[in-house]
Amino acid sequence: MTTPVSRPETARPTTVLVCVNCRREGDAEDAPRAGRRLHDALAARAETHDDIRVVGVECLSVCKRPVTIGFADEAKWTYLYGEFDETAVDEIVATARLYGETDDGLIAWKSRPVAFRRGVVGRIPPFAVAAASPEGRP
Ligand code: FES
Repeated sequence: MTTPVSRPETARPTTVLVCVNCRREGDAEDAPRAGRRLHDALAARAETHDDIRVVGVECLSVCKRPVTIGFADEAKWTYLYGEFDETAVDEIVATARLYGETDDGLIAWKSRPVAFRRGVVGRIPPFAVAAASPEGRP
């Protein structure tokens, strides 16, 4: 049994986006897709971890690198990563926590697990940063 993890009440949970439409090679037509399996495994884990919330989305437009996931927070950079499956739940939760510990969403390269170095697809600035910068740079 996993012990629930608590955090300061002022902290927001990290949103972990998971594409439930992603299909990996070998997925049976009549079985849940890899994205759905990963989503469900992460959602089950999130039941005992109040520092993450898992949100399934229909597509993150990174369909050639399934399963695509993302880390998001209204005040931080949003990151997209590809090439995960349900065997990576522990690593995803641990890295989501690293993200949650940052003020801006930027996890130092050396601190990122290899799958998150290799799998990074893109990042998007917090809207407030983008809106405040006429040059489009933070
Ligand atoms: S189907 Fe998963 S990113 Fe498009």
